Amino acid sequence: MSLSVFMRAIRILVMLLGIVIAMGTSCAPRREQEPARSDDNPGITSAIDLNGDPAVFEMNLVAKVATVELVAGKKTAAWTYNGTVPGPLVDVVAGTRLVVHFKNELPQATTIHWHGVRLPNSMDGAMAVQEPVQPGGTFEYSFVLRDPGLYWFHPHHRSDSQIERGLYGVIRVRGTSEPRVDHEHVVVLDDVRLQSDGALPADLDDYSQLPLDLKLHGRWSDTVLVNGRNDRALTLQAGAIHRFRFLNTANLRYFNLTVPGHKFRVIGTDGSLFEKPYDTTHILIGPSERYDALLIPSAAVGAQLPLMSDAFSRAEDDTLQPAITALKMSIGSSVTGRTLADSLPGVAVPRIAVPDGEPTLIEFDQGTQGGAEGYTLPADGPDPLVGKDGDPIFVINKKAGSDIPPIEVKLGETKKFKIHNISHQIHVFHLHGFFFQIVDTDDSYDPVKKPFALRRELMDQAQKDSVTIRSGFSVTIVAKFDDEPGRWMYHCHIPEHSERGMMSEIRVVK
Ligand code: C2O
Ligand code: CU
Repeated sequence: MSLSVFMRAIRILVMLLGIVIAMGTSCAPRREQEPARSDDNPGITSAIDLNGDPAVFEMNLVAKVATVELVAGKKTAAWTYNGTVPGPLVDVVAGTRLVVHFKNELPQATTIHWHGVRLPNSMDGAMAVQEPVQPGGTFEYSFVLRDPGLYWFHPHHRSDSQIERGLYGVIRVRGTSEPRVDHEHVVVLDDVRLQSDGALPADLDDYSQLPLDLKLHGRWSDTVLVNGRNDRALTLQAGAIHRFRFLNTANLRYFNLTVPGHKFRVIGTDGSLFEKPYDTTHILIGPSERYDALLIPSAAVGAQLPLMSDAFSRAEDDTLQPAITALKMSIGSSVTGRTLADSLPGVAVPRIAVPDGEPTLIEFDQGTQGGAEGYTLPADGPDPLVGKDGDPIFVINKKAGSDIPPIEVKLGETKKFKIHNISHQIHVFHLHGFFFQIVDTDDSYDPVKKPFALRRELMDQAQKDSVTIRSGFSVTIVAKFDDEPGRWMYHCHIPEHSERGMMSEIRVVK
């Protein structure tokens, strides 16, 4: 072999080696296109994927009583998923199949509902489609997470007490058009009523012990939790892009989120990112809603920058809810050169064409058991919320629970609903299995006086699964029932209301 032939052979070998190395890296499983991003979700454990196939996320989930510290120094026997509050965070890319081997080790029957997720009807975990899993029982949930966004899971049996006891967890689904950020945080907001020894209140076992005020409004308390603790802290990097994924799991409490001196750039809500984000000083988040927002902290290293819930009122004649600090944040380091993008290309949600004609009316009202309105709970009502005379009843079109005639919809049909709240309480309309778009409202937005009203930006681009309707106002929505026939619940997401009548179903038929 001549020297030149030898050299050529070496060169070819080196080249081949290079190709093999290049192929090796490009074949390596790549979960996402995003640049390096640090994830800091204080207090939240990540779910463990038992399945080697990157297209499947398979996990064990056990509902059980566990001792946790929601408030420093106090032991609480909470109801938990896998022993923690919140339960484990499921982190996947859109298109992943989620397989959950569920075991109920609670002393009460339960189900899991996958809030906001589009899935086959039999996997929805609602009473209409699933017998509750008895203590000691198991169930296998399996479905594909189709849509990017932040979702959550919680029981749909005795949800007023089971969610309040700590049964909730988060699902984060990434798409292909996620914004570039430096840091990301899942922030789960809640509140809890603890006795002085840290125990949960007895009215969770016995509805008759619940004070009338909480029967009317829903359970709430001044003990605010972030990711399962009342004293969470987070370190921020000045100048860096922080992405906050807010979820409100509280039964009633609203949070009027603000970071003093700063603006959020809101990039999404529920099951949608926005092509055109908007800036705001305050994000009003109601029970079960999610908001996705970017923020660049600007303050000196060492400065405190709290995440607050600012003062607000639920109605013009209501007392002001006081401002509180939800999460202590402080600046630990700094970086320069970051700016927020004005648009998120490639994420536009197609708008549903609004059909002509009158919307289907969903009228929310309230009355009293044995009262003059004549409202009654169905005879097969959810035990033990049978209540007694004088207890509130919450109705849809003047009927409660299974007495409410289901709304029938043809598969493929687009339907317009007007939700009118004629009661004295605030309500949160939630629909299972389908996103809806907001078409109209008679409530008008003002960041201080009327933070609850819907912003134009949400009507123009959000696809939601939950929306608040204040007393005396209405919201018109449109949904396209284009797949997954079956029995899909709609209800108020204040569970003290839904378990006392304000819950029915939409039947999507072929
Ligand atoms: Cu998160 Cu039917 O509810
Ligand atoms: Cu309600």
